Amino acid sequence: MSILIDGKKTAEEIRLELKAKVDLLKKEGKKVPGLVTILVGENPASQSYVNSKSKACIEIGMHSIVERLPQDLPEKKLLDLVNKYNNDDDIHGILIQLPLPEQINEQKIIEAINPKKDVDGFHPANVGNLVIGNQTFFPCTPYGVLELLSRYKIPTEGKHVVVVGRSNIVGKPVANMLLQKKTGANAVVTVCHSAAKDLSQFTKSADILVAAIGRAHFIKADMIKEGVVVIDVGINRVEDSTAKKGYKLVGDVDFVEVEKKSSYITPVPGGVGPMTIAMLLKNTLEAYARITNG
Ligand code: GUN
Repeated sequence: MSILIDGKKTAEEIRLELKAKVDLLKKEGKKVPGLVTILVGENPASQSYVNSKSKACIEIGMHSIVERLPQDLPEKKLLDLVNKYNNDDDIHGILIQLPLPEQINEQKIIEAINPKKDVDGFHPANVGNLVIGNQTFFPCTPYGVLELLSRYKIPTEGKHVVVVGRSNIVGKPVANMLLQKKTGANAVVTVCHSAAKDLSQFTKSADILVAAIGRAHFIKADMIKEGVVVIDVGINRVEDSTAKKGYKLVGDVDFVEVEKKSSYITPVPGGVGPMTIAMLLKNTLEAYARITNG
């Protein structure tokens, strides 16, 4: 039987720690950290994420602005808005919910964000600093993965971490973070992706498996070795006629079977997902500290 890594509980602990810090700022009569979340269009999953991010911000006493913009918004308008918040002293973090509509060049928008306010850690300057091991903002989901490993005291040094998936949001940053010669990292990292000829050959040798593929129940029990630590980053909607919404959320891992063979495992929902928002709040507080302390 596996130990369940409770991301919901861990995220709650982090939020309480951050709330105590915000409360202290208020007590000292200081400005509070501020986050603007920008949503373009009506993607239901994006709407739900943005609402949760704003709610979490307000719950810990931070200043939150949500900009909801139409699907046909011209790129120039979004660039102007980003620029406005780059120059707004009450805003310390800028988050643009991805994906963006077709007419908008995602990379151009990311590059328009002041790197000091880039709490997603997507700006090329921050990505470069992450790879080198300099001060940066860690992208929130990979940051959540490392935080879970750390809080559950799961050693990473010298362990073979196999990351399945090479996205800019999860796969690439999590691999680079675990590779650093630092406490809570220093792992031997392999990154696999859809072009792998025999994926199992890699996944079977993992001490820690990070699944970030975006396909429901993709990782099966015969693809892993006994005692592996499984971190499931996937959030997939699958039809479920018994559920009120008509769908349920499942991970990239076949949880029921894989759980029997693993030593630790994150559930979906309630694993990595809640950590993403907690780490966004942590990054916003960090951006505030860096901006206000020069
Ligand atoms: N879309 C899916 N995940 C993310 C994320 O972590 N940040 C942003 N901005 N958009 C996303």
